[in-house]
Amino acid sequence: MELLDKLNWRYATKAMNGETVAREKIDNIIEAISLAPTSSGLQPFEVVVITNEEVKREIRKIAWDQSVITECSHLFVFAAWDTYTADRINKMFDLTNTIRGFKDKGWENYRQMLLGSYPNRTPEENFNHAAKQAYIAFSQAIAAAAFEGVDATPVEGFEPAALDEILGLKAKGLRSCVLLPVGYRDAESDWLVNLTKVRKSKEDLVTFMD
Ligand SMILES: Cc1cc2nc3c(=O)[nH]c(=O)nc-3n(C[C@H](O)[C@H](O)[C@H](O)COP(=O)(O)O)c2cc1C
Repeated sequence: MELLDKLNWRYATKAMNGETVAREKIDNIIEAISLAPTSSGLQPFEVVVITNEEVKREIRKIAWDQSVITECSHLFVFAAWDTYTADRINKMFDLTNTIRGFKDKGWENYRQMLLGSYPNRTPEENFNHAAKQAYIAFSQAIAAAAFEGVDATPVEGFEPAALDEILGLKAKGLRSCVLLPVGYRDAESDWLVNLTKVRKSKEDLVTFMD
């Protein structure tokens, strides 16, 4: 199947059947998350992958009682950095130098530029920027799941502060921003499975400037 066929196959699954997704497929989704591009390559987020049924039940309570939270095989929680600190920025720049095995003057100047700007911004501004990067990876995870023939439901319908509490994210300097229950559709009971995909026209979406 081509990429577009897979993207047409996927949909925001409303009911899952509880079947376990093989570890290899989960690892491939994680790899796609890891490979997502991020601003300055900072990857300012972490992902918690939950299979613990009790924790899933707790989360469902603060996620509009959406059944996919407990019916899924793996629940991915995307949590962005609560702010940018010099330490966090330096860590990623140092990692680049270690992995590439050399220091580049232009790259070091760029590091100084970020160090001189990001940490001076408000935590809210920084979190919003970091959350955008998490959403890029989130989108890539959705596509990767479809590629693996695995269903996934993007979920923003939850109380982030309550979820941060359940997962102890504050202590790690993280704030939850979006969820991705991953599993297999329950075609029998999912009202959305056979409905036609709705998208606005390409004319309303795209303007070509030749
Ligand atoms: C960021 C984001 C948050 C969403 N939150 C929810 C949600 O909480 N519950 C839900 O059932 N669907 C949720 N959706 C699914 C959208 O309603 C769905 O993707 C959209 O209607 C397009 O349909 P499709 O994904 O089936 O093609 C969310 C989608 C996105 C991208």
